[in-house]
Amino acid sequence: MRKLTFLLLLWVLLPGPGAAAQEELPAADGAAILKYILETAPYTRWGTFPADGIGDFHGIYLKGGEPHGATVRIYVNDIGLAGALTEDFGGALPPGTMVVKENYPGPPDDRGALADLTIMYKVAGFNPGANDWYWVKASGDGSEISAAGALEGCIDCHGQEGNVDYLLRYGFGAEPFISLGPVLPGPDGVQVMAYLLEQDPYTGWQAWPGLEGYITTNSTHGQEVIVYANAIARRAAALTGFDPAETGALPAGSIIVEEGYARNMGNPKLMTITAMYKVEGFNPHAGDWFWVAADPTGKVNAAGALNGCIECHGAEGHQDYTRLGLGAAGE
Ligand code: HEC
Ligand code: HEC
Repeated sequence: MRKLTFLLLLWVLLPGPGAAAQEELPAADGAAILKYILETAPYTRWGTFPADGIGDFHGIYLKGGEPHGATVRIYVNDIGLAGALTEDFGGALPPGTMVVKENYPGPPDDRGALADLTIMYKVAGFNPGANDWYWVKASGDGSEISAAGALEGCIDCHGQEGNVDYLLRYGFGAEPFISLGPVLPGPDGVQVMAYLLEQDPYTGWQAWPGLEGYITTNSTHGQEVIVYANAIARRAAALTGFDPAETGALPAGSIIVEEGYARNMGNPKLMTITAMYKVEGFNPHAGDWFWVAADPTGKVNAAGALNGCIECHGAEGHQDYTRLGLGAAGE
């Protein structure tokens, strides 16, 4: 009975669109929020800010900034993601949005144990003067809460010029207030391969929809190929309204990688890694693609606005310089 009253109360307090999903949301209370993100709806299964052509937070340990850890990882719940993805995003995420940040003491390649969790949770009516965010700082395992509520320290720093809805790291398609280190690599072959092999290993990406596994071919790339696409490219393709025939193009930040294999006594042997990476303004005459050809270890053989790649990929009829096309996208 008590639980029912509580749920009813929540339902009354948090009406509006998506009320069904909000019934389970915690109250504006540090312990309840921790219980929610650790047990009820574990944050490690959430997504993160949509890739927007400037940055991609997906599954990546990022270089962090003062006063947070030297390495951070950011998670956003579905309510927040839906808000960030609405076409008429008005500069404020919806009530129910939660952003959880893991903070580690060391640099990304030697980050050490998870030290703190910092959380922002938007509760309608909680603190209208500062966009209704409820702030929490807790130990890495969530067992100790050091501060929670309308915390002035957090609000002052997060409210500074350049924020969007008190967020500092994500700019909703525009340049964010702060961008630390290479979220995406520059147009440089060695940087791009380091990114693909170490920072966001392409072998962990999914295939372009409809192109899973080995594809038998006989192209300049090999007898068998595997094609991977990063989250920026795949999410653009999955957005309703993505129509390559109309817009003709993937967004900046898109990366497609193709592994070329030779058949070796029936076993495919990796011969080459090639990549196309869209960098805004890099080469507007040829779709802004930056091309990379590397050996199986990732050693770069050629990179840049490579004419050979552009001529064959840019032949009449190919969507945005892709030979396999973008037609299977969004299925
Ligand atoms: C002195 C400035 C400062 C203070 C104080 C501060 N933050 Fe931050 N916060 C940042 C910066 C800079 C970033 C982006 C860099 C990063 O990810 O580490 C950030 C990022 C975050 C993020 C990720 C979402 C975003 O803004 O992009 C969360 C969540 C967060 N902070 C929570 C907190 C909480 C909770 C507190 C208070 C306990 C707090 N912060 C206090 C500067 C601050
Ligand atoms: C003579 C034509 C030709 C040349 C030259 C060529 N490619 Fe391709 N490329 C293809 C074909 C055909 C495919 C489709 C998959 C397959 O059969 O290998 C492809 C596929 C790809 C893909 C997967 C995405 C897509 O377009 O479908 C990448 C990435 C790629 N090539 C990179 C490169 C790079 C980098 C170069 C230059 C170093 C290059 N290619 C040169 C013909 C070419």
